[in-house]
Amino acid sequence: MNKLTVRDIEVGGRRVLVRVDFNVPLSATNGDITDDSRIQAAMPTIDYLISKGARIILCSHLGRPGGRVVEGLRLGTVARRLSKLLRQEVKYTTESIGTEVEETVAALKAGEVMLLENLRFHAGEEENSPAYATALARLADVYVDDAFATAHRSHASIVGVAGQLPAVAGLLLEKELTSLGRILEAPAHPFGVLLGGAKTSDKAAMLYNIMDKVNCVLIGGGMAATFLRASGYAVGLSQVKDDPQVASELIAKAARNRVRLILPEDVLVVGEDGTGVENVSSAKIPADKKIVDIGWQAITSFTRALERCRTVFWNGPMGIYEIDQYAEGTKAMARVIAGLNAATIIGGGSTAEIVIELKLADKMSFVSTGGGASLRFLSGEGLPGVDIILEKTPTGVNNG
Ligand code: 3PG
Ligand code: MG
Repeated sequence: MNKLTVRDIEVGGRRVLVRVDFNVPLSATNGDITDDSRIQAAMPTIDYLISKGARIILCSHLGRPGGRVVEGLRLGTVARRLSKLLRQEVKYTTESIGTEVEETVAALKAGEVMLLENLRFHAGEEENSPAYATALARLADVYVDDAFATAHRSHASIVGVAGQLPAVAGLLLEKELTSLGRILEAPAHPFGVLLGGAKTSDKAAMLYNIMDKVNCVLIGGGMAATFLRASGYAVGLSQVKDDPQVASELIAKAARNRVRLILPEDVLVVGEDGTGVENVSSAKIPADKKIVDIGWQAITSFTRALERCRTVFWNGPMGIYEIDQYAEGTKAMARVIAGLNAATIIGGGSTAEIVIELKLADKMSFVSTGGGASLRFLSGEGLPGVDIILEKTPTGVNNG
């Protein structure tokens, strides 16, 4: 990686603003954190900064409050969880900018940690307003970006601040870029990509780019309906939200590149009212039913194809996995990938949540913290949050 990291600059005694992604899932019933992997993932950078005696100011968004204060999206719960993980108090301010925040920063001693309030309570965050970026930048001497999962957003705390302070990568960002970078640069072959989830359009750019590097692409989930339709199948009541043209172009590129494109030969379907679940051939999907999972034969053929791979990237569930009855395909793929003797990389977001829930995360080579960000990275389009970080100079001289 040719970017400067937190290891390349002097941080001892300095005020370091660290953008993390603490956008963790919360329980709908009591607001508790249901999975703290994203907090855990930021620990190496925080520990490193503590060990160097930096004065650490953490900042993050949580959810999509849309520029106003939403009580249920305050970061107090996260500050408490972080205090426990670090075994030291994390000071928490109920604002992200302003006098009170500046006073707390001024009182911060070497090795102490504070967390600012949810950045998205200010409209300036998502609008990347220079005024909001400046108010954040005043708090610190150095900026560290460790929020890989938000690196695809051109927000004030990502690109605005980075333009005003010496900006370096945190250790999580570095690990993400190295792990994902490896599958673009030097994947072991055969290389297979397993994709699912609702929309093809979210993944089209990534698929188009990666089609030059992979040997096979397997498609399940809502996306499968789009590809089946584009291949001439009737898909009953399955919603095809995408332009079938996108799938047709991807099918054509796969053929040109001699990439095996594998669609499910059978699927699990159900009637509109949720009754009449049956496993049918993809060629015989009843007009009054919709696809909810890949079928049994598809599970077998997907398994066979994955077992031949030495590199596998997976993003997106195979069906409506939130409903137990329709989660079999997704669970089966998670177990197969976990058992492979291959480099296995899991895209973040819901796919990471599934793998963590099934307690298979430590069986994978790498589980990304980024959903949209990892797809964007693999599309080769570049991430605004990464592009703005200082490059390593040939002499290693730092700009901090
Ligand atoms: C995510 O969970 O995808 C990241 O935290 C970014 O959040 P966003 O999609 O609301 O920008
Ligand atoms: Mg997102």
